[in-house]
Amino acid sequence: QAAQHLEIAVIPGDGIGPEVITEARKVLDVAAEASGATVAYTEYPLGVQHWLATGETLSEETLQQLRGHDAILFGAVGADPQDTRVPSGLIERELLLKLRFSLDHCVNLRPARTYPGVQTPLVADAPIDFVVVREGTEGPYVGNGGSIRKGTSQEIATEVSLNTAYGVQRVVEDAFVRAQGRSKKLTLVHKHNVLVHAGDLWRRAVEEAAPSYPDVTWDYMHVDAATIHMVTHPGRFDVIVTDNLFGDILTDLAGAVTGGIGLAASGSINATGDAPSMFEPVHGSAPDIAGQGIADPTAAILSAALMLDHLGLSTAAEQIERAVHIQLSQWAAEASGSLSTAQRGDAYVQQLRRVV
Ligand code: NAI
Ligand code: MG
Repeated sequence: QAAQHLEIAVIPGDGIGPEVITEARKVLDVAAEASGATVAYTEYPLGVQHWLATGETLSEETLQQLRGHDAILFGAVGADPQDTRVPSGLIERELLLKLRFSLDHCVNLRPARTYPGVQTPLVADAPIDFVVVREGTEGPYVGNGGSIRKGTSQEIATEVSLNTAYGVQRVVEDAFVRAQGRSKKLTLVHKHNVLVHAGDLWRRAVEEAAPSYPDVTWDYMHVDAATIHMVTHPGRFDVIVTDNLFGDILTDLAGAVTGGIGLAASGSINATGDAPSMFEPVHGSAPDIAGQGIADPTAAILSAALMLDHLGLSTAAEQIERAVHIQLSQWAAEASGSLSTAQRGDAYVQQLRRVV
């Protein structure tokens, strides 16, 4: 593999965001170096603290600077719900959602897998290993709605789900390609018996793409049924492709059945590469444990691995995943008690040095 230089923008964010990103960077440095790659980080102090200090969420100037990077590593943002100084959801909408929409992150990639020794709430302990390809720029999340007669008994509120052929087709293509690289099984999840217009568009997008991927078998499942199967037969899934809202809900469930929020990684992918993709743990800023140095950095570290894979350093990405794998089983075998964020990060680094 040719030597590669990576320009990474880092948005540590709030709460445990900076704590887990510190550990992710340690691991990333070792993995990149072993692959002969160099990494330069530029930190952007965005989030609640930045907004409180400056009144700014994400300026055009910062957005332009972010565009100049190969990828963005994101911690978490968001205020303590008790903090009345911050309007609910302001930072999430004006920073996180704005980034995803402005940088055209059409694929929200969320792998779900079990790790040896990591407890899951499921009784049947078959290993789980699937990935959800969630549409990231359309659906009910585009802000297409409004209300009139607000606060009266005649109030009307709409929230229209927007689905374009272009937007659906590109996500479906991405999902087929990912299925080809995995167990070659794709499941479209929607609710096309009730949401007939959008559902039909999604169904046809899959039907029309399928002949180009003859090695991939695909099926369809209603979203409500999918929540059952994810608990009773999660092993049946390989790649799930679904819309923005269903994907949001399903991936929380996927995180829960695979052993928790401390392990769930994600990527917000720009499919054409004309803007940087962004990689972040699924969890938020966890104000309840922030500042105590006890957050689990695994999700952030696995997000960094997704980032390396996306940037073409797939060996480095696999090495991180292997190190996490080995270390998690080791901790389970040792029944090691509570470890600090830094102790976990250091253990992953040590394990990675053995793997590379
Ligand atoms: P959260 O994910 O921050 O926390 C939920 C629960 O999981 C808490 O009990 C927390 O302690 C625990 N937890 C989360 N990550 C953990 C980790 N790495 N290790 C150990 N325990 C962990 O969700 P919550 O409490 O609903 O939201 C807190 C703030 O984060 C809110 O302002 C919310 O809007 C924001 N948020 C931001 C996200 C992002 O930046 N992508 C995503 C989700 C929430
Ligand atoms: Mg969510």
